[in-house]
Amino acid sequence: MSTVLYPGSFDPLHLGHLDVIEQSAELFGSVVVAAMHNPSKPSGLFSLDERMAMIDECVADLRAAGADIRVEAFPGLAIDAARVAGADFIVKGLRSPGDFEVEQQMAHTNFTASGVRTVYVPCRADLGFISSRFIREIAHYGGDVSAMVPSPILTHLERVSPTR
Ligand code: PNS
Repeated sequence: MSTVLYPGSFDPLHLGHLDVIEQSAELFGSVVVAAMHNPSKPSGLFSLDERMAMIDECVADLRAAGADIRVEAFPGLAIDAARVAGADFIVKGLRSPGDFEVEQQMAHTNFTASGVRTVYVPCRADLGFISSRFIREIAHYGGDVSAMVPSPILTHLERVSPTR
């Protein structure tokens, strides 16, 4: 069994992310979900601490079922987070060929800079269209994102978004 780091912005966590967490716990054993800062997405909706707390709520059922999942917030590099967390490698979910292009570049860069390897987990087929960016946009205008996020996230989105 291995310990893996699953880094992401998770702004907010959605059902596709939760599926990758579940698959990773099943495949690898121990998962550290790392809420990270993405420099190309400077204006996030939730703070790192809020995102970490929200992820904790969403993985409660998996933990109760015996999954070994830790949730942490890291402000810096994913490779440093992997080292601090004691992770053997990094896990990323792939939704599309577009994701692969971006992730492959990051995987090679992270390996070159640190020796930390990345493995990909295919996103569940029916969840591969979901993106945090579109969830933020729809929620911002009071739209319904209930089919795309775990229920605790809905409550937090309602807190920060206007109602229709
Ligand atoms: O959910 P996202 O926004 O697609 O996740 C991207 C994320 C946060 C995993 C990536 O931006 C990241 O690793 N950020 C931490 C900074 C870092 O390690 N940069 C070097 C990338 S090669």
